[in-house]
Amino acid sequence: MRITMIGTGYVGLVSGACFSDFGHEVVCVDKDARKIELLHQNVMPIYEPGLADLVSSNVRAGRLSFTTDVAAGVKDADAVFIAVGTPSRRGDGHADLSYVFAAAREIAENITKPCVIVTKSTVPVGTGDEVERIMAEVAPNAGVMVASNPEFLREGAAIEDFKRPDRVVVGTDDPEARQVMGEIYRPLSLNKAAPLLFTGRRTAELIKYAANAFLAVKITFINEIADLCEQVGADVQEVSRGIGLDNRIGPKFLHAGPGYGGSCFPKDTLALLKTADDNDTPLRIVEATVQVNDSRKRAMGRKVIKACGGDVRGKTVAILGLTFKPNTDDMRDAPSIAIIQALQDGGAKVRAYDPEGVEQAKPMLQNVEFSANPYEAAADADAVVLVTEWDEFRALDLKRIKEGLKQPLLIDLRNVYPAEEVERAGLRGIGIGRIEPGARTDVLPEAKHGLENA
Ligand code: UGA
Repeated sequence: MRITMIGTGYVGLVSGACFSDFGHEVVCVDKDARKIELLHQNVMPIYEPGLADLVSSNVRAGRLSFTTDVAAGVKDADAVFIAVGTPSRRGDGHADLSYVFAAAREIAENITKPCVIVTKSTVPVGTGDEVERIMAEVAPNAGVMVASNPEFLREGAAIEDFKRPDRVVVGTDDPEARQVMGEIYRPLSLNKAAPLLFTGRRTAELIKYAANAFLAVKITFINEIADLCEQVGADVQEVSRGIGLDNRIGPKFLHAGPGYGGSCFPKDTLALLKTADDNDTPLRIVEATVQVNDSRKRAMGRKVIKACGGDVRGKTVAILGLTFKPNTDDMRDAPSIAIIQALQDGGAKVRAYDPEGVEQAKPMLQNVEFSANPYEAAADADAVVLVTEWDEFRALDLKRIKEGLKQPLLIDLRNVYPAEEVERAGLRGIGIGRIEPGARTDVLPEAKHGLENA
């Protein structure tokens, strides 16, 4: 199959590289000449483990190429994927579809034979209809079919997710388009665990938003349970395990933390709420999730201040991990931003270390001193806060951290370290949703009430 990928962001570049690795002939197109130039030199515009090797081996095999020229890119294509950005529109939270529609128009102006136009970008319900309308207007006789094929890959695990997905969703009622898409994904059918799910186009578009919203709800649910654990002297990791072993619930996405961030959940939940609003169908659970998650990030800053004795004025706080999650350099909506702001508002001096995110973080964070490693960050600080669970923070020499610190305090917002290990290193440890040293062992009000009524 000859495939064209419009857009070389996360989704476009990873999908293009993986499709070429399946054996298809792939051309990736991007308007940004500098990006294309860098890709020609095998310099990846994003940090994604394994991507540079995947790209270079497929370029060498002659299956993957890059261009800024849409006409050359879409010539003779069997399928043209639109994988351009759909940021939140400034002001109203709707997905900004201008890049998608501009790409559709340009494709229509340049196609040379019937093909399937596939939206891979996350687009609101009904976008495929509009793409179809553009095709009918600009290239009425081209014989194009429009399908939706949402992507479910995670940053940092993108190649693995693409090659071993739980499912592939293809939204189109057109039998010919289904056949083309079936061929494109045939290499995955060897993996019996990855069903190809054909649906209507609008259904496919909604599946993507519903999946991300559900995951955001799941995380937010366990985060609130974590808060309750702290109040009642329970342990959220054990609660997660206890509920996650129920197959109907499942163990994934039940790690309590400082709140979800990234380029997807925050943007997609907002866009889904706009769609719901426009259709007079409120999604109250998603509304609550967005609100709870937004306020959680700054609340984590207050948690740190409380752990520092209620006042951080003149104190130095070391932040380990800035990106919204490990294995990415992505800082979009990262909890670290709100946490650092809250600490600085409280008068703290902030020092930070991140393995990959510093370049992206610098323009977003003012008055932060960046360190070369975790130990340098902790030296002479009054507290260390673990914000992102990078692998290199999983085996820290806690004794060395403690020796460098002015106050022996570790606030672990990802529950990376068991309380006993922290204690053994001579540190006071504060986690998320955990039984803290000195936690209440008194009879809880509800239990007391029960006793009184017994
Ligand atoms: C998410 C989805 O997981 C992908 O399936 C989807 O394709 C992608 O959005 C997208 O729409 O493009 P991603 O944003 O890369 O992927 O990252 P996740 O691994 O899902 O993590 C999102 C956030 O949730 C992170 O801030 C992470 O720390 C947080 N999280 C995740 C938790 O706090 N607890 C968990 O148990 C899981």
